[in-house]
Amino acid sequence: MSHRRVAILISGGGSNMVALARSMTGDHPARPVLVLANDHAAGGLARAAEMGIPTAVVDHRPFGKDRAGFEVELAAALDAAAPDIVALAGFMRILTAPFIDRYRGRMLNIHPSLLPKYRGLHTHERALAAGEGEHGCTVHEVTADLDDGPVLGQARVPVLAGDTAETLAARVLVMEHRLYPAVLRRFALGDRTPVFLP
Ligand code: GRF
Repeated sequence: MSHRRVAILISGGGSNMVALARSMTGDHPARPVLVLANDHAAGGLARAAEMGIPTAVVDHRPFGKDRAGFEVELAAALDAAAPDIVALAGFMRILTAPFIDRYRGRMLNIHPSLLPKYRGLHTHERALAAGEGEHGCTVHEVTADLDDGPVLGQARVPVLAGDTAETLAARVLVMEHRLYPAVLRRFALGDRTPVFLP
């Protein structure tokens, strides 16, 4: 079987992209074919290039409020790589329903909370403020509803006394780097059985 082609969308450092790319070796059924950022300054672009992965940038800023215009360019850059799977990894732009529909059933995202809790931003601060005893991250299929969609995996971490948003985020990020590759491997084999860590 030829490998499943995976495009990864980033906005920043791309640590999840690196974890995903590093996992796609040997008998893994998928390979990274593109790392696409919405910002030329995204640190993950250099890391992808170091790993020999083709990169592209579609800067959202020139489009202002014209989401559709941005997404026309985004789709063109994506389609040029003919991905079977699109993985959002620290991608910080909200995508419209028509764009998501193009990739329905083959677009994944990782979100730093135990969905359905804490959709949206500042998840670690909010979990701490709520006095949560545990927190974590979720990989889900992307649907038109923000941070919603079928759960493909979750990883839990304890909230510890004295935690700050930074210490909690760091603990979650370690699990993100384990969870996302585990989910992608299964998903690439057509298996949607959710992964739960630990
Ligand atoms: C992480 O907190 C992740 O949960 C969220 O974006 C942040 C940065 O991710 N999706 P990365 O290091 O750019 O992969």
